[in-house]
Amino acid sequence: MKKVAVIGSGTMGNGIAHVFAQHGFIVSLIDISEDALGKAIGTISKNLDRIIAKGNLTEEQKEQTLANISTFTSMQEGVKDVDLVVEAATENADLKLKIFRDLDSLTKPEAILASNTSSISITKIASVTNRPDKVIGMHFMNPVPVMKLVEVIRGYSTSDEVTRQIVELSKQLGKVPAEANDYPGFVANRILMPMINEAIYSLYEGVAGVEEIDTIMKLGMAHPMGPLQLADFIGLDVCLSILHVLHDGFGNPKYAPCPLLVNMVQAGHKGVKSGQGFYSWTHGTKELVVADRFKKH
Ligand SMILES: NC(=O)c1ccc[n+]([C@@H]2O[C@H](COP(=O)([O-])OP(=O)(O)OC[C@H]3O[C@@H](n4cnc5c(N)ncnc54)[C@H](O)[C@@H]3O)[C@@H](O)[C@H]2O)c1
Repeated sequence: MKKVAVIGSGTMGNGIAHVFAQHGFIVSLIDISEDALGKAIGTISKNLDRIIAKGNLTEEQKEQTLANISTFTSMQEGVKDVDLVVEAATENADLKLKIFRDLDSLTKPEAILASNTSSISITKIASVTNRPDKVIGMHFMNPVPVMKLVEVIRGYSTSDEVTRQIVELSKQLGKVPAEANDYPGFVANRILMPMINEAIYSLYEGVAGVEEIDTIMKLGMAHPMGPLQLADFIGLDVCLSILHVLHDGFGNPKYAPCPLLVNMVQAGHKGVKSGQGFYSWTHGTKELVVADRFKKH
């Protein structure tokens, strides 16, 4: 594989394009928004500077990495001749089905079509194409240039050969691939989201406050951050929508989202992206300030 298209240049798409380009792939970065593409190139450039500052990249390598990336607002132009597409557009099932239907007709028949979805069924996405054996989940973690894991998700019809190629490719990118089958939440979110939901229930039921819950989980379990802080970083709307996928997919009440989470999302308190969640983020993300509502009086 030499040529890769990345669809969507948001948080994940720019990181995925960065990692491929830094490893010598020719990357088409595609977004419907010209503004998002401009921001993505700015972010990639800043992140490359950070790697240079740590002594792990030269200025020439940065220039080469940026030269490996071309941006497009038209999918048709961006995906012709590519060997692989990694879709990282907005998490919306109808949107992804439309993108994969279009990709199936716009790419060469042997191209592999991967999705970075956090929760949408790979089997469902594959079903709208004429190549379900070549559709696979390639679930990178945020921030992509830093996080080592790629959760490789096999849809019902994904072939052994395509899985092998994506596992090898992930290693080539310096990542550690781990395979999972296509069931709701795959592995990462099936285990993470119930933990976050339980942390929110502990707060809702008055078992402990925000700081105590996060301190217990951070120091007690050696997690880099507590579950409430992590939920704020992921986005409370995203956590809620993944819990709905788990709840609907398994029909098991243990995945029912905590009413406090539902209320917070309805009130527009979505975590870092909206400035308020379990913590207040109006002063940036370096400082942890418990949101007024959850402060002890
Ligand atoms: N943010 C995370 O921590 C995270 C982690 C793992 C996986 N994911 C998954 O990655 C995907 C992207 O998430 P994100 O956080 O980067 O979202 P984001 O909102 O930051 O970016 C999405 C981008 O997709 C673009 N887009 C929308 N429709 C498009 C189309 N038809 N064609 C091309 N581009 C289009 C938008 O303009 C936007 O720039 C989602 O499926 C999400 O579930 C996110």
